[in-house]
Amino acid sequence: MADPKPANANKAAGPKTKAVKAATSGSSKSKAKPSATATGKIPMTLSVNGKSLKVEAFPMARLLDVLRESLDLTGTKEGCGEGECGACSVFMDGRLVNSCLVPVLQATTAKIVTIEGVADGNKLQPIQETFITEGGAQCGICTPGMILAAIALLKKHPQPTDAQIREGLSGNLCRCTGYMKIFDSVRVAAERALANEGASTP
Ligand code: FES
Ligand code: FES
Repeated sequence: MADPKPANANKAAGPKTKAVKAATSGSSKSKAKPSATATGKIPMTLSVNGKSLKVEAFPMARLLDVLRESLDLTGTKEGCGEGECGACSVFMDGRLVNSCLVPVLQATTAKIVTIEGVADGNKLQPIQETFITEGGAQCGICTPGMILAAIALLKKHPQPTDAQIREGLSGNLCRCTGYMKIFDSVRVAAERALANEGASTP
């Protein structure tokens, strides 16, 4: 079987080896950490969950990766990576977006909210509670995106019909639940909100 390594592979490696050597040699200049320009990454500030956070990232890096890998906000999940499943949903200026499709540079001017920013400290939002009580979550991969989509839906339709629930969550895919328990979670959250409203009305 032919050697898959190109004939000039070692030759091609030569200059790179030299460059590495230079970078690790004794001069203080070569010891300096690569600048943002040298790495291609640029320093930027993101507004996430009410905090101003500094990161260095490639301008076209996916917002999803920067959230998960640079900011450790791993609640946002990756499913398809192609804008089809909604697992990576976040809010940008209140609008639900698929963070796998957003270049991070585009997000620097927006207020971003991830699933980590939804609860009020240890107090869950009603929709988070009903995902637990109604069995809306199984493996949990789709759950952060589903909850954000449900929040957007309930904001638009506080008492949604079944059709509106289906439509509101249509951009989010779930491989586990068969959807009915997710729809129940949204419906029960809306019912509880209505009951609480009634209870607080004199
Ligand atoms: S991972 Fe972004 S839409 Fe599926
Ligand atoms: S709970 Fe597993 S994908 Fe939805």
